Amino acid sequence: MEIALATSFPDDADTIVVAVGEGRQLFPSAEPVDSQAGGAISRAVKTGKFKGNKGQMMDILPPESMGLERIVAVGTGDYSVYQPVDRQYLGGMASAHLDKIGARHVAIPTSDVLNVCDFAHGASLRSYRFDNYRTKIKDEDRHTLTKITLVADDLTGAEEKLARLGHLADGVTLTRDLVSEPANTLFPTEFARRASELSAVGVDVDVLGEAKMAELGMGALLGVGQGSERESQLVTMRWQGGAEGDPWLAIVGKGVCFDTGGISLKPGAGMEEMKFDMAGAGCVTGLMHALAARGAKANVVGVIGCVENMPSHNAQRPGDVVTTMSGQTIEVINTDAEGRLVLADALYYTVKTFKPKQVIDLATLTGAVMVALGTYKAGIFSNDDALAADLIAAGDAVKEELWRLPLGDRYDKDINSDIADMKNVGKGREAGSTAGAILLQRFVEGTPWAHLDIAGTAWTKGDEAITPKGATGYGVRLLDRFVADNWEA
Ligand code: BES
Ligand code: MN
Ligand code: ZN
Repeated sequence: MEIALATSFPDDADTIVVAVGEGRQLFPSAEPVDSQAGGAISRAVKTGKFKGNKGQMMDILPPESMGLERIVAVGTGDYSVYQPVDRQYLGGMASAHLDKIGARHVAIPTSDVLNVCDFAHGASLRSYRFDNYRTKIKDEDRHTLTKITLVADDLTGAEEKLARLGHLADGVTLTRDLVSEPANTLFPTEFARRASELSAVGVDVDVLGEAKMAELGMGALLGVGQGSERESQLVTMRWQGGAEGDPWLAIVGKGVCFDTGGISLKPGAGMEEMKFDMAGAGCVTGLMHALAARGAKANVVGVIGCVENMPSHNAQRPGDVVTTMSGQTIEVINTDAEGRLVLADALYYTVKTFKPKQVIDLATLTGAVMVALGTYKAGIFSNDDALAADLIAAGDAVKEELWRLPLGDRYDKDINSDIADMKNVGKGREAGSTAGAILLQRFVEGTPWAHLDIAGTAWTKGDEAITPKGATGYGVRLLDRFVADNWEA
């Protein structure tokens, strides 16, 4: 979506959006439009159920003289309590409505252009679609809204703000594209190729194939990919926006391009959803794009472990013991608990190579986190209270919320194995998400670390304010905010 700035109404706009607050109160910026329309707006909002409540929309037919198709009144509710993210959400809701009525170029008058930038950003995020494989789209399903022009006398700072939000939206879009892509077209080497395209925004990308990983001793990651025809890949994306010698922030992602469960095969029903099992890696890639494109003043390295978990005559078996890069051994009780095996090597490689000040991993690691938290919040596990608090605060600010779940010695003992250093499952159904997290903790060498289990939040089955149904891009906005507040401030 194009977002433009102007000091007067563009001739080719077909729709004007105006804001109406609690108690049917027109925003001051709506007054001149209302008078041009001969009071049509103020008359319309006095009737019916439209009260200016948050998210209410009303389509008004303007007089012919205005050369417009519609004026859309958008209710804000109590505007005095709005945070930037609330404007984004309202923009998202408006965007869905505007597409429904066929609006194409929308002009929005405002006396506070910076605030309305957030509204437009939300509209743009909501208008995302993954249409690559749809050869027939019905007219009424088609998105029409392609341009929003913000109209204000004072445009100070708006261009800068829109550019920054645009890079963030591009990052979210990249993540959603990667996560939406089916596994026959997005497999590990293709993922690595897509990640390599980040060199265009100044990211240094390195790809390790299976031979190199074998040399490094990454037996856990390689064991997961062993049953697949597709070669596993470890991709490193470096953005050095800070000073040389400044510490690194490392972000690590689970990139299981498809998770069949392996020999511990998953049931058939719903298995198609497991193309999303690379959402952690998808988030890391989108985040690196956003940070580099906006020139974030921080040294951030993203590392993703990309594999395909398949059953085959070559696949690893339940009971196999693998040796990780760290030298620790893992008994593979269940080949479907593969994410922690991939991350064990990816995390260890990352902390050894970059000695980061903090390391954060994202993974669609456990079904159990959905049992605990549903789809509204992701689980966070951390060995560092300050890091956990900073991530939770960033999540709250952008409404990508986190809820902290426990680690601890007693859980740690639960993954001890009789024949190896550890096993890849805990006590059956008990504390399943912690069992995954606690294994990861054994591979971070005491680095301040947080694990985000995004199995419930990476995908949505229904439309949400700034997220159409499908891949959400969860984590990109959260971590962009975390970097801005804690690494650039
Ligand atoms: N990718 C899955 C986790 C998952 C399951 C995400 C369902 C979203 C929906 C992960 O690899 C997995 O299979 N985890 C197992 C672990 C178990 C075997 C210990 C799980 O959660 O059942
Ligand atoms: Mn699995
Ligand atoms: Zn998985």
